[in-house]
Amino acid sequence: MEGKKVTISVIKADIGSLAGHHIVHPDLLATASRVLAEAKRKGLIIDFYVTGVGDDLQLIMTHTKGEDSPDIHGLAWDAFKKAAQVARDLGLYAAGQDLLSDAFSGNVKGMGPGVAEMEIEERKAEPIITFHADKTEPGAFNLPLFRVFADPFNTAGLVIDPRMHEGFRFQIMDVYEGRVVELSSPEEMYDILALIGTTGRYVVKRIYRKTDGMIAAVVSSERLNLIAGKYVGKDDPVAIVRAQHGLPAVGEVLEAFSFPHLVAGWMRGSHVGPLMPVAQRDAKCTRFDGPPRIVALGWQIKNGKLIGPADLFDDPAFDETRRTAQIVAEYIRRHGPFMPHRLGPEEMEYTTLPQVLEKLENRFKKVETHTGK
Ligand code: F6R
Ligand code: MG
Ligand code: MG
Repeated sequence: MEGKKVTISVIKADIGSLAGHHIVHPDLLATASRVLAEAKRKGLIIDFYVTGVGDDLQLIMTHTKGEDSPDIHGLAWDAFKKAAQVARDLGLYAAGQDLLSDAFSGNVKGMGPGVAEMEIEERKAEPIITFHADKTEPGAFNLPLFRVFADPFNTAGLVIDPRMHEGFRFQIMDVYEGRVVELSSPEEMYDILALIGTTGRYVVKRIYRKTDGMIAAVVSSERLNLIAGKYVGKDDPVAIVRAQHGLPAVGEVLEAFSFPHLVAGWMRGSHVGPLMPVAQRDAKCTRFDGPPRIVALGWQIKNGKLIGPADLFDDPAFDETRRTAQIVAEYIRRHGPFMPHRLGPEEMEYTTLPQVLEKLENRFKKVETHTGK
């Protein structure tokens, strides 16, 4: 099967959780696993792994149907629907939250779940990492992925390995306008940064190796509030990154997460906080519903089979990152409802804040100002 095409699909949704927005109940994991096991038995998928990260149910699947397959998306939808029913039966919190529509129409994109899919030609040995974050948004991957694929201070291979030396092509999505642009690193590095520094709008969607166009990374880009037009939950993102053998090493990929950078999405999807890399067992948000967390699962893909996972942030080497994140969390929390801890007005548009402002509208009185108006 070497050289054959295989697709890795990571599809996630928050369809109800235990004790508020804390963790996925084991019965939901079991229900989704049963649906996927049946699909594996029938030969629709090659392999699967079901897990929970914070309040998000995560489906990791391999198959040969390609990206955007109605069969695979339909399967994920079915797994979420059945698990959501269990969530309702158990009285879990926000049961069915991310399933924004009742009728499945061939693709889960735009319907609530987050999706990262990558069709690859399996290499002789195929190490990949799936990332799963909670209480943040797709733009949270902009900074670390830039560092992995464009910053030689993070990734030594950009300097040393001839297969990477030409750099990478970044496909960047404008999530407000639903359009993409491709920019080339290192030549257009500053243009890339000019866009992706605006994390709420421009999202790194895909990254390709320039020497041969090989796909190296993909990120989910769904933003629930933009789809629903109001705040209905957070777009906790997922990503797939290939590693080694002419791509960044697993350790170069992980190194980019050693800085707990500030991301949007904490408490009510309305606050900024540090992204804390954690072991799977610590992927449960508590303090102020956070702080935002990320899990990295390491896999080898063999004939489409998922070998693993290795829980990559389950390592004392990330203890200092976590400690820094705690200090940053402590510092930024003291701002309470003030910016920049609370998001700016553009981002608050999709929360309940506009209703508060509307209520106050006719209590505002015009006064003389010196602004020329
Ligand atoms: C959900 C999340 C939480 C909720 C918060 C309020 O993933 O990020 O911070 O936004 O717990 O939830 P409700 O409005 O459902 O009480
Ligand atoms: Mg939630
Ligand atoms: Mg979540």
